[in-house]
Amino acid sequence: MHHSLGHVRSMALGCAAKLGVADAIHRAGSRATLHDLHAALSLHPSKLPFLRRVMRVLVASGVFSQVEEGEQDHYRLTPVSSLLVTSGECGGRTLLPFVLLQHSPLCVTPATSMAEWLKAGKEETAFEMAHGAGLWSACRRAPELGDFFNDAMAADSAFIMDVAIRGAGQVFDKITSLVDVAGGTGAAARAVAAAFPHIKCTVLDLPHFVAGDMMDFIPRADALLLKFVLHDWSYEDCVKILKQCKEAIPSRDAGGKVIIIDVVVGSSSQAMCYGTQLLFDLTISMLTPGMERDEKEWCKIFKEAGFTEYKISPVLVKQSSPK
Ligand SMILES: C[S@@+](CC[C@H](N)C(=O)[O-])C[C@H]1O[C@@H](n2cnc3c(N)ncnc32)[C@H](O)[C@@H]1O
Repeated sequence: MHHSLGHVRSMALGCAAKLGVADAIHRAGSRATLHDLHAALSLHPSKLPFLRRVMRVLVASGVFSQVEEGEQDHYRLTPVSSLLVTSGECGGRTLLPFVLLQHSPLCVTPATSMAEWLKAGKEETAFEMAHGAGLWSACRRAPELGDFFNDAMAADSAFIMDVAIRGAGQVFDKITSLVDVAGGTGAAARAVAAAFPHIKCTVLDLPHFVAGDMMDFIPRADALLLKFVLHDWSYEDCVKILKQCKEAIPSRDAGGKVIIIDVVVGSSSQAMCYGTQLLFDLTISMLTPGMERDEKEWCKIFKEAGFTEYKISPVLVKQSSPK
């Protein structure tokens, strides 16, 4: 039952994200009773008992906390739900748009046909089977979907770049120019430019931004940044993209480098981290022809593309597994 009903926990999170529960608690002074929440969210009067059940599931899973204060129980934010506050309690960062994307039909519908997709044996992704077009074409065709997707990625970038710059900022030392390859609306490049104002940053993406197809050409720079890009592509395409990258940077001795921000599966011995990496892998492999990769798989791609050295700097995981 626990495994069968796991999606209900996730749906409850999606419900809280859509309703704006974290914002309501934040606005109420960081603590709210059930009645406060019910009123703030403008729910139907008959739904009070259901809101209590949704909150009970989310408290049990650590998204919110519940404490007895005075005569009444109050809900409070936890470090997890602080990331759902739009005004951004986490140093001004919010992951709400990213959570809304994960819970949208864009991402959920392909997963509902996983078994059919596995049987289909065609060369299309589960996303293509569900939506009749690839992810990038779907975003291009429907600009509101593109905006929704880009907002989610921009929120993710603002959050992750803070962590990456704090945890591995030395990687940007001595760089004077950087191209954010497939950089979406440029949130990652903006974070680099804010932290290192001397670096001239350029964003390359499909024609809806600074027009450019990374498969054909990547502008020259000291460094290229690929954040959550290579995990969208097959082995062959990753090699192709990295070969293009190699053409666009100076030699290693002259300071050229490619900075990749992506998951390394198995980089953490923490069960929750590893479990999340596996879920992210399954999600990405339904949405795109890509996957999340372990160190061996990354190493093979780097070698095939002509790179002789690489260095992994774990920034979002607490412990590395023993080699
Ligand atoms: C998962 S998003 C990552 C965006 C950004 N790097 C970030 O992390 O916020 C992948 C991006 O690749 C872009 N993209 C897809 N195919 C591309 C191509 N052939 N050339 C350039 N950009 C491409 C998409 O438009 C999208 O913005």
